[in-house]
Amino acid sequence: MRNVTLFDDGDHQFILLNESDPGAENGIESNQYLIVHQRIGVLLDPGGWGVMPRVLTEMLHHLQPEDLAAIVLSHQDPDIVGGIATWLELTSATVHVSSTWMRFLPHYGQIDIGRFFGVPDQGMALEIPGCTLQLIPAHFLHSPGQINLFDPASGILFSGDVGAAAIKGDGEPRAFIDDFAPHVPAIAGFHRRYMACNRALRIWVARVRSLNPTMIAPQHGPVYRGQAVADLLDWLEALPCGADIMQADGAFPS
Ligand SMILES: [Fe+2]
Ligand SMILES: [Fe+2]
Repeated sequence: MRNVTLFDDGDHQFILLNESDPGAENGIESNQYLIVHQRIGVLLDPGGWGVMPRVLTEMLHHLQPEDLAAIVLSHQDPDIVGGIATWLELTSATVHVSSTWMRFLPHYGQIDIGRFFGVPDQGMALEIPGCTLQLIPAHFLHSPGQINLFDPASGILFSGDVGAAAIKGDGEPRAFIDDFAPHVPAIAGFHRRYMACNRALRIWVARVRSLNPTMIAPQHGPVYRGQAVADLLDWLEALPCGADIMQADGAFPS
């Protein structure tokens, strides 16, 4: 599934650029998103090296590499950062990632660390010409330094791994979740095991509710919209996970 436009008012677009196949990276599928404001682009979680050629092909339908102003990395995982060295070669984009991960990034290949900007723990504004995006904290969900991106023009929250589905609920690829309850089996195991604790979830849920997003767009699986946004937030707020439920022998209850 490629190139699903989530928002477009003529001036400003938020696009699900590419959803990789599970086989593309020898693992689970991942989403890459592109925000375009008056022909200037921001790429969100560009993916591992295996998906890079397809992401580039899809991006070229919307803008040229020289018009990519910024790349946002929600956290440090290889399914997000693995292709970054090539993106740096092809574009002059700056890269924005939690300051927590700055010293680890040189291990992803020959990269010019001077183009990387560490996002402070409390987040910050990301300015592109004519448009201000908000980088907001989502720490310990699952990464100790995770940032989300809220796009006020579209009302869409890019949530990184929060809300991520590793397996589609009914096995059919689809872009959106409208009805939350049938989707829970696709997200429950991942969130119980990967998210650090319920306190981190509650802090995140309160922040996200204050933004009142129209959609929540994760790095894996379908995009939440309509009632499913509020239902996802309610479910996460009440979810025991991670350190809350880990047993003394290291096991997690299923
Ligand atoms: Fe991750
Ligand atoms: Fe992920």
